[in-house]
Amino acid sequence: MKILGIDTSCDDTCISLLKIEKWKLEILSNVISSQVKLHAKYGGVYPMLAKREHQKNLPVVFKKALRQAQGKPDLIGVTVGPGLEPCLWQGVNFAKKIAEDLKLPIIPVNHIEAHIVANFIGFNFQFPISNFQTVLPAVCLVVSGGHTQLILMKNIGKYQLIGETRDDAAGECLDKVARVLGLGYPGGPAIAAEATKLQTTNYKLQTKLPRPMMYQKNYDFSFSGLKTAVLYDFKTRPLKVRNSKKYIQTMCHEVQQAVIDVLICKTIKAAKNFKVKSIILGGGVAANNELRKQFNYKLKTTNYKLRFLVPPKILCTDNGAMVAATAYFHKGERFNLPEIKADVNLKL
Ligand code: KG4
Ligand code: ZN
Repeated sequence: MKILGIDTSCDDTCISLLKIEKWKLEILSNVISSQVKLHAKYGGVYPMLAKREHQKNLPVVFKKALRQAQGKPDLIGVTVGPGLEPCLWQGVNFAKKIAEDLKLPIIPVNHIEAHIVANFIGFNFQFPISNFQTVLPAVCLVVSGGHTQLILMKNIGKYQLIGETRDDAAGECLDKVARVLGLGYPGGPAIAAEATKLQTTNYKLQTKLPRPMMYQKNYDFSFSGLKTAVLYDFKTRPLKVRNSKKYIQTMCHEVQQAVIDVLICKTIKAAKNFKVKSIILGGGVAANNELRKQFNYKLKTTNYKLRFLVPPKILCTDNGAMVAATAYFHKGERFNLPEIKADVNLKL
């Protein structure tokens, strides 16, 4: 069976064709048309501009995905939420149109579930997705530009939200900090790049950045205070200091580490308390090298045995393959075209 996955929840127009036979999975195409350059001058995603770009890009990306795959879909999966509403509608309407024209069934997909399912596509696509049950139950940490959620996963479709951010998402915090430091958009990769350039730890910031809510007895997060702490520190520095490479690199290292410390601490605490077999990561921030490395190290050195799953980087950020794989898991469910709507507040 071949499944077409469409995602337009944010600023990337993503379409992929997956082939799944006897639980063996092959990504035939995975086309992503990025709008990063357009949004960079606003320091974040400008929804109406993103909508217009999706409208323009969808037919082009669709043709490219089919051409690369040299195949046609039997089923369509489309992200219906959560995401930016004007953007979601573009993908939903486009998917409905293809479904109608090609007489194909269509499955509405939850973007957060898709970020989790990206793990079952697996590293180098070797991990047959039929094995996914061996890693469950799991605590999933979905960290993106729009979300920071801890989810207890018992099976596909069986999720319990155990904690989430009360204000900014982790990726949003990094994006906003990058804007303050003049590093452009998206902020996560820009901050990571500056942080790795830091050669010496001799240069000490007087301010130690906070680790918000790290030791609280709940699984919620808060990242807006961290962003404000960076802003205040930046504003109090003389121009000469704040424009220096050392300051920028140190601040990037510090803010990235603060985010990592909180994410790792709370996720491992949840995994232990809910006695799960695995920790599963997903979302754009999961592409962060330091986060992946430090999670691995922490889990190897703790005496609590937990499996650790994180998708290949290309499947951490938004993509159509994760949407197609999620649609496959729900393929028995039937939906009528008029029933399928974009929903910004869609919960798992
Ligand atoms: O999942 P995603 O592509 O889109 C949403 O669903 O929001 O995540 C985008 C977010 C952005 O905030 C971006 O700065 C962050 O993921 N991001 C990263 C990295 N790559 C993307 N954050 C830290 N390190 C990275 N390497
Ligand atoms: Zn996403």
